[in-house]
Formats: sequence, C-alpha cells, structure tokens
Amino acid sequence: MSNDKIWKSNSTFILAAAGSAVGLGNIWKFPYMVGSNGGSAFVLVYLLCILIIGLPIMASEILIGKYGRKSPINSLKKISLDFNLKRHWKYLGVIGAFAGVLILSYYSVFAGIAFSYMFNIFPPGLENPSNYSTEYFSNIAASPLKLIFWHSVFMIITCMIVGYGVIKGIGRSVSLLMPILFLFIVLVAIYSSLIGDINKTMIFLFNPDFSALTPKVIISAMGQAFFSLSIGMGAIMAYGAYIPEKQLIGKTVFLIIILDTFVALIAGIAIFPIVFNNVDLSINAGPSLIFETLPVAFYSLPYGSIFSIIFFILLSIAALSSAISLLEPFTAWMEERLKFKRKIIVFVLGISIWVIGLGSIFSFNLWSEVKIMGFTFLSGLDYLTNNIMLPVGGFFIALLVGWYLPRNLIKKELGTNESYLKSFFFCLKYVSPGSILLIFLYSIFQ
Ligand code: PHE
Repeated sequence: MSNDKIWKSNSTFILAAAGSAVGLGNIWKFPYMVGSNGGSAFVLVYLLCILIIGLPIMASEILIGKYGRKSPINSLKKISLDFNLKRHWKYLGVIGAFAGVLILSYYSVFAGIAFSYMFNIFPPGLENPSNYSTEYFSNIAASPLKLIFWHSVFMIITCMIVGYGVIKGIGRSVSLLMPILFLFIVLVAIYSSLIGDINKTMIFLFNPDFSALTPKVIISAMGQAFFSLSIGMGAIMAYGAYIPEKQLIGKTVFLIIILDTFVALIAGIAIFPIVFNNVDLSINAGPSLIFETLPVAFYSLPYGSIFSIIFFILLSIAALSSAISLLEPFTAWMEERLKFKRKIIVFVLGISIWVIGLGSIFSFNLWSEVKIMGFTFLSGLDYLTNNIMLPVGGFFIALLVGWYLPRNLIKKELGTNESYLKSFFFCLKYVSPGSILLIFLYSIFQ
C-alpha cells in the first residue's frame, strides 16, 4: 500500500474515525431518541450496548480493515482466503455497503435541513420564539421543494469530497474542525444548563426508571449504539484500511468511543434543559426536536443569531464527515471491482442515493399517510438499517473475529495487557453476539 493511502498520523485516524462516529447521530438523533423512549432507561441500555457490544465490534472492524488494507468487502475476502474460511464472509461487506447507501439516503435529508438552518435567523422581538420555531420547521417539512433543494446540496458536497479521495478529502479538514465542534457543544450545554431546567434534565437522563424498559426501547437503544459508533456496516473498517501500521487498536478504540459517547450525552444536556423550561416544546417531538429547540435557546442569547449560525455550520460539517464514511465502503468496493474512475462511480452512486432520498422527503409531506405495517418510508428505512442491518452485520463481525481468527493476531494488533485481552475475548465471543441475539429474540417474541 502506498503512503498516500495511510493516515498521516495516529491522531488523524482517531479524528477521522471520530469524524465518522460523531455526527447527526449524536447531536440530532440521540436526544430525540432519548426523548421518545422514556429517558434514563434508554440511556442506560445505550451505554451498556456501547461498552459490551460496540467496543469489541469496533475493534474487530478496525482489525479486519488493517489486515486487509482494502475496501471492507475485499478485506473480508482476503481474510477468509488467508485463514481458509468460507468465502461467504465477504457478503457481510456487501450487506454493509448497501446499508451505508440506504442510511445516507435519509441522513442527507436531515443534514440538508441542518444546512438550511445556517440561514435561519429569527426576526428580533418575537413574543413566542418557541411557536415561531415549531412553525418554521413545519414549513420546511411541508415543502418537498425546499427539502429536495437542501438534500441535493448536501449530496453534491458529500460526493465531491468522496470523489476527491477520502485521505486527501477529509484527513486535513477533520483535524481542525472536530475539536472546534467539541468545544462548541460544551459551551452550548453550559449555557442551556444556566438558563434551563438542569435538575429535571439530570433526573430524566440519569436516574434509572426501569418501568420504561420495553422491547422497543431496548432494540432502539442497541440500534442507536450501532448507528452512533458507525459500526456494523464497514465504515470504520474502510477507515481501518488506512491506519498506520504501528498504531495499536486497543487504545484507539477507547478514545473514539469516549469521544462519541461524550458528544451524545453533552448534546442531551444542551437540549433538554431548554425543553423542560418551555411548555411549548415537547420531549416527544421526534426528529424535529433539535431543530425546534436549539434556535429557541440561541434566541435568548446575546448575539444569539451568530451562535446559531456557527452551531449549524459545525453540525453540518459533523454530518458531512459521517456521510463520507457512509459512502466510502460502496465506492471503494466498486473502484476495486469495476476499475472505473472514482469520480464516475461516486457520480452514479450519488444520483441513486439522491433518488432513494426522495422517498424520505415525501414521508414528511406527500406520503406522510402512506404506511406499511405502521412505518412510513422514512421510519421503515431507519428501522431496517439501524435496528436490523447494522446489528446483523455486527453480529457476524464478532463471530468472525472472535471464533475464526487466530488469537495471536488479535493480541498483537490490540496491544493491550493480558487481563484486558481476556475480557475483550470473552465479550467478543459470547457477550456481544449473545446480547444482539437476545435483544432480537426479545423484540420479536415479546
Ligand atoms: N455515526 C454517524 C452519526 O452518528 C452515522 C453513521 C452511521 C456513519 C453508520 C457511518 C456509518 O451521525
């Protein structure tokens, strides 16, 4: 592998992986999922899933990528050839690449809305900013044309970066922008805690209320853990292919996971104090939650509109650095397989994803009443990808690395001490796949 296909340094890989992990999933999705799923019970299961399922699976993905040094599909193929395993393992990568494309189709719609909020400046002197905010969102959601416009803008930028090449396109930009985003979210959280109801927020988020634990809450928390960590579909595996040879996976994974979880929790602390302080806002708002809430917080802040613009710029960048990693596995695969130019592949893929995205756009308006088994196009796609495709992908990744790869290889790559290694193996072989299976069974037969 040539040098231009390796991240410049260990920290570039960490930032790129964190760039993939930290995105709308943390700042937009986590708070609304917590809000619609009963608060602390969801948070608790989510944290558990991050630790016992997410951590070992993320490490396994990086390991496979680093070993194969190719697109996820071909890295899986190489591993199965080298260790005399069945060739079926590569289909894990194929399903993942498709999951990425499907997720991107609706991710782009919400990222587009985040883009549009860079230009959403509330007029001064509003008597009821919350009402204004809710109406503003409803207006965007009701307009297919506006949504299509912003979805297109987002897809074009994503495709341009991926077409240019991941290392060149993102290595540099994430190193600068991710730290600014972290800092900003912390500042917003401090401000919200000062002006809003932080006590109620802390109880809502952290005081376990087991009565709220339902199969739906549990499977959604697991799906959210997969989605937020970008695991189960090969995104992190694709980035792992460019990791410097000497970088040890054990520590790296810890850092990425801590960063990702930290941003999600801080996003919750930034949003809920405002919601609890405001009778016109509801924790059950669903996907519109941050779009209705945060502008209200910014409104009451001196120079609020400037903060709001900066915040939505940062959020859009976080979304972009995740979107890139959703598109990369399919692109890298096609590039190896078809030998076409990267730019052409990305162009064709981009248009296909754009078209699928229309289905999610119409779920807000023209097709909002069209439902199959209670799902709109958008909520169905969201459920299928997060709650089924990613966990199934993760399940098999855990099986592959935990049961079929030589222990020595894993030991060398992780670079951790013996006792950590033991618990790691135990989790990877039994706990992670076992919990995924149990959660599936529980949600089906309940
Ligand atoms: N983790 C990203 C986010 O939180 C979304 C994502 C999912 C990216 C799966 C890549 C793979 O926004």
